[in-house]
Amino acid sequence: MKLSQIKSKLHPKLYESLKSEIKELRPSQEKSIKAGLLDENNLLVCTPTASGKTLIAEMAMLNAIYNEKGKAVYIVPLKALASEKYKDFKSRYKNVKVAISIGDTDSADKYLEKYDLVITTSEKLDSLIRHHTPWLKYVKVVVVDEIHLLNDPSRGPTLEILITILRKILPKIHLIALSATIGNPKELSEWLDAKLVEDSWRPVELKKGVYLDGEIEFN
Ligand SMILES: Nc1ncnc2c1ncn2[C@@H]1O[C@H](COP(=O)(O)OP(=O)(O)OP(=O)(O)O)[C@@H](O)[C@H]1O
Ligand SMILES: [Mg+2]
Repeated sequence: MKLSQIKSKLHPKLYESLKSEIKELRPSQEKSIKAGLLDENNLLVCTPTASGKTLIAEMAMLNAIYNEKGKAVYIVPLKALASEKYKDFKSRYKNVKVAISIGDTDSADKYLEKYDLVITTSEKLDSLIRHHTPWLKYVKVVVVDEIHLLNDPSRGPTLEILITILRKILPKIHLIALSATIGNPKELSEWLDAKLVEDSWRPVELKKGVYLDGEIEFN
């Protein structure tokens, strides 16, 4: 599927930002569109690493922002990943106010109200919710990147409670969950009330081998 085929569903500013870089959609992206990504369907996207999951989230977030449906929050597990996404989104969407909120100070961060897209960690968002951050009510799209972290013994429970609280206080959010490695995707998609998008296409073929004394022997 070519990007131009979905031009009518993308806000003109979003299409303009993407068209020079993206010509053809990758299989996971095409499947997500067909599963109702641009019609506000909740999605759990479970596809290999580097298959293009971020763009799926971007299309939902930027369409909501440009169409003035609300803000977007992008949740990542690591501060380093938050900085990477911040740089990425800021350079691609110059007319969008992008913020990063990963600080250790426990406050409501009221200044974030002025931003359209907030990149944060689950622990930080949990803290913002506990401070009754006023701008949360304007959030339309929530992206949970690397959602397999739900399974992590130390950080999983925070994420699980966070998603539960978010869906309770914001029942109309559009939820997009992304991961390359989920053991029980069907079960998780049911819990999230999301459509499951699975695909095995990867840009680089995966080979299994044994490394010994500077040499790799492939199966
Ligand atoms: N349709 C496309 N055409 C060309 N390049 C694309 C397309 N979609 C994504 N890319 C590029 O592919 C690269 C990998 O994408 P991305 O980081 O979204 O992968 P991912 O699925 O999130 O992987 P991971 O599970 O490792 O986080 C990025 O550099 C991105 O710009
Ligand atoms: Mg990713």
